[in-house]
Amino acid sequence: MKVHLSTASRCRVKTCAQGSTGSTSGNKTALITGGNTGIGYETAASLLEKGYDVILGCRNEEKGRAAMKKLEPFARKGGSSTDLAVFDLADLNSVSEYTKRALDEGRPIDVLLNNAGIMACPLMRTKQGFEQQIGVNHLGHFMLTNNLMPLLEKSAAEHQDARIINVASSAHYPGTIDFNDMSWENKEYSKWGAYCQSKLANVMFSYELSRKLQNSGITVNALHPGVVATELGRYLFPSLTSEEEIPWWSKPLLSVATSFLLTPEQGAQTSIYLASSPDVTGVTGKYYDSCKPKTSSNESYDLEKQKKLWDLSEELVAL
Ligand SMILES: NC(=O)c1ccc[n+]([C@@H]2O[C@H](COP(=O)([O-])OP(=O)(O)OC[C@H]3O[C@@H](n4cnc5c(N)ncnc54)[C@H](OP(=O)(O)O)[C@@H]3O)[C@@H](O)[C@H]2O)c1
Repeated sequence: MKVHLSTASRCRVKTCAQGSTGSTSGNKTALITGGNTGIGYETAASLLEKGYDVILGCRNEEKGRAAMKKLEPFARKGGSSTDLAVFDLADLNSVSEYTKRALDEGRPIDVLLNNAGIMACPLMRTKQGFEQQIGVNHLGHFMLTNNLMPLLEKSAAEHQDARIINVASSAHYPGTIDFNDMSWENKEYSKWGAYCQSKLANVMFSYELSRKLQNSGITVNALHPGVVATELGRYLFPSLTSEEEIPWWSKPLLSVATSFLLTPEQGAQTSIYLASSPDVTGVTGKYYDSCKPKTSSNESYDLEKQKKLWDLSEELVAL
């Protein structure tokens, strides 16, 4: 594959981008995958307030529309707009249909925030048969990013500052890529092994792509958002997302447990910083935690493995 080169209560959160708010925004466009809830939703709210037009990339149209409605006050405040792009990262045909529509439309993308993700699910497979976590967290985003490259290039041609941000996790540290069996076909499935592998893939993809895009005006960085109270634990604690009332006896325990977690708004700060701060204009190929660059795992820096992951991903998504 060729890389083409040519809140109402928001002030209570300490932001890393303070002092820079609104200074770079104009009417740039940010596409946020998984923008209907959690960290993605909070990032959308903040970018709208800063004057970015935001496209929510969602798999569920109903949830996407509900999020758009909730985001209206932020959009009004920033004089910006919200749009919806419906595609399922667990189905490469769905990703490809969306990216074709986006390319036909030709709207430049200034910020691509690859945020959607799932964690520690039971063994499930995507439409094309990949293990779900590597499929959604890495391969779906790999295809999305590559297909949308002409729209990021358009933005870079205009102002030399297009940004790709991959929401990884500190869970990448124990992760390793099994190049012989990335989809858990010939070994016993480990839901955490699969999550850690997919998050390491996010970091390695960021590094390899940043090198390919050197001097293109498009930067690529990865981040860990912190440990955040969102719906990410839906497979570990199904009551988080079910309609059922949480049993009374588990409420005190749950509230103690969640008091140690960041709020989604706090967890969105590194994403917001990398998407919008002038401090990181031109900064590329880095891993961030708490709005600061941080060393990622040893394996993530292995250039041969980064290339191998790129080649394998390209083959799997058949670019
Ligand atoms: N929360 C944490 O502590 C934490 C820590 C480290 C890293 N992260 C990373 O942060 C990112 C955001 O997670 P979050 O905590 O905000 O979780 P979340 O509240 O569960 O949000 C995840 C988002 O991803 C979307 N999604 C899931 N599968 C998808 C698919 N097949 N196609 C399209 N969208 C899909 C979900 O859509 P639906 O609403 O339709 O399900 C939802 O919008 C993830 O990449 C996660 O790995 C989170």
